[in-house]
Amino acid sequence: MLPRIASVQNPLRVAVFISGSGSGLNAMLEYQKTPRAYLISLILSDNEDALGLNYGSKYGVKATAIPLPHTQDKIHQRLSHEAMIDEELVNSNIELIVLNGYMRIITPLFINKWKGRIINIHPSLLPKFPGIYAHRDAINAKTNESGCTVHLVDDGIDTGHILAQKKVSVSPNETIKTLQEKIKKIEHQLYPEIINLLSTGQYHSKS
Ligand code: GAR
Repeated sequence: MLPRIASVQNPLRVAVFISGSGSGLNAMLEYQKTPRAYLISLILSDNEDALGLNYGSKYGVKATAIPLPHTQDKIHQRLSHEAMIDEELVNSNIELIVLNGYMRIITPLFINKWKGRIINIHPSLLPKFPGIYAHRDAINAKTNESGCTVHLVDDGIDTGHILAQKKVSVSPNETIKTLQEKIKKIEHQLYPEIINLLSTGQYHSKS
């Protein structure tokens, strides 16, 4: 698991990976205004246009975009992209990677290097509805509840060990947009709390 037990005085150095608006990142940065055992030290995006990168200047955190390099060979492209990311993480002394709306699949090579030190939040009650269409799939399944899951990242798609979950109800007239908003609300509470617990050597079991 994590390299050490952190404290408010000596917080865990966290990198947050985003691809889009970064509303979850914003929630983590807001939570950081109160005493907690993690410190967001780097914001990293694969997308140069990600709006969430703007939170870097707002909160005084280094924010960098590392887009996919232009190469023909797709495997080489992914590996060199991750090598650049890894270098940035090592240079910033990062101890935990928090995926928060990062929409790329990470290679097993990178995951192995950071094993136990990468977590993700997914907008469904895993193992139900993994993948990028979680909200659509939940609505199509006519389920009456969904939610979010915080989990360790392994080399499957949303298959890693579950740390915590929170539920929301799904109404019969729910749309993808309303469900997204509902789930984001609970994600913004749950994720910072779990990261704080993890940083201090504790974590929630699945509820
Ligand atoms: C969040 O709902 C998160 O669960 C989801 O992306 C959203 C990011 O929103 N992540 C995934 O779907 C990962 N497969 P944000 O950019 O507004 O923070």
